[in-house]
Amino acid sequence: MKTIYVVGSLNMDLVIHTDALPKCGETRAGCGFMKNPGGKGANQAAAAAKLGGRVCMVGCVGKENGKDLLEALAQSGVDTRYVQVYDDVPSGTAVILVVGGDNRIVLDSGANARVGISLIEEALLGAQAGDILVTQCEVSVVAVEYALRLAKKKGMTTIFNPAPAAELGTDVFTFCDYIVPNQTETEFYTGVLPEDEEGIRRSAEIFLRRGAKNVLITLGEEGSVCIGEAGCVRIPSYNAGKVLDTTAAGDTYIGALAVCLAEDMSLRNAMLYAGVAAGLTVTRQGAQQSMPLRDEVIKLFEKLT
Ligand code: RIB
Repeated sequence: MKTIYVVGSLNMDLVIHTDALPKCGETRAGCGFMKNPGGKGANQAAAAAKLGGRVCMVGCVGKENGKDLLEALAQSGVDTRYVQVYDDVPSGTAVILVVGGDNRIVLDSGANARVGISLIEEALLGAQAGDILVTQCEVSVVAVEYALRLAKKKGMTTIFNPAPAAELGTDVFTFCDYIVPNQTETEFYTGVLPEDEEGIRRSAEIFLRRGAKNVLITLGEEGSVCIGEAGCVRIPSYNAGKVLDTTAAGDTYIGALAVCLAEDMSLRNAMLYAGVAAGLTVTRQGAQQSMPLRDEVIKLFEKLT
C-alpha cells in the first residue's frame, strides 16, 4: 500500500455559530461553542486515514492543546511519529465564526511556523517512488516548497492545496502533479475568477503554463473540474442533505483524492469519490469529527458508478 505523507498544520478550532457577522465595535450573541481538532494539514490527514489510507502526518504542535491534537489524529488512524511537540509556543489556533453554514476563519499559526527542512527530510527518508505527498499553506512557504521539491526528487506524486492563498516562489508549481485550489485561491494566483467555462479554462492554463501537471479547481456547489493530463474532467457536487457547516469540506475532498490516487483509481472516479466524501462532511458540524468513514462513502459512490 502506498503511504500518504501530509506536511502541514494542526490547529485547535474554536467555533461559534451566529446569525450575522458583528460590525466593527459590535458584540453579537452566538451559540453552540465547540473546541475541535482542526488545521488544514491534520484535517486532510484525518480524512485520508478515515477513508482507509496509510497516512503519516508531518507537523508541529505546542504544549497547550498539543496532546489533544495528537490524540485526535491517532484516533483517526494517522501515524503521528513525525509531529514534533514544542514547549515554548502555543499550538496553531483557529477562531471560526459559522454564519448560515459558511465559515470565516482567523488563524494564529503558533507551532505550525516551526515546521522546517530537517523535520521534512527526516519524515520523508523512508518515502518510496509512487507514495503521495500532500501539503497546504498553513506552514511556512519555505517548508511547502521544500516538501514539494523533495517529494518530486523521490518520484512521489504531489498534491498541493495552496490554501490559504500565499505569496509563493515562481517555480513551486513545477513540483505539483495536482494543484487543488478553490475559486478564491485560483483568482489570487492567476488573476482570473473561475466562475464560468471561460474563466476555468483561462485560469487553469495559467497554472499549467507555470508548470503544474494537473489543475483541479473545487467549485463548491458546482462540483469540481480538472484540466491537465487527462484533458478536462468535470464532476457535479454531491448533495448528501442539508448543509450544516462547510468547515473542512475542502480538506475532506483532498484527503479522499489522495487515497484514490494511492489506490490508482481513475481521475474521474477519484473526483466523484472525493465529492461524495465532501458532500457528507458539510451535513455535519466541525472539522475532523465531521468526516465520513470509508464504508459510508463507498455505499453512495457505488450508486453513482
Ligand atoms: O480548512 C478548515 C481548517 O482551516 C480549519 O480546521 C481551521 O483550523 C483552518 O485551518
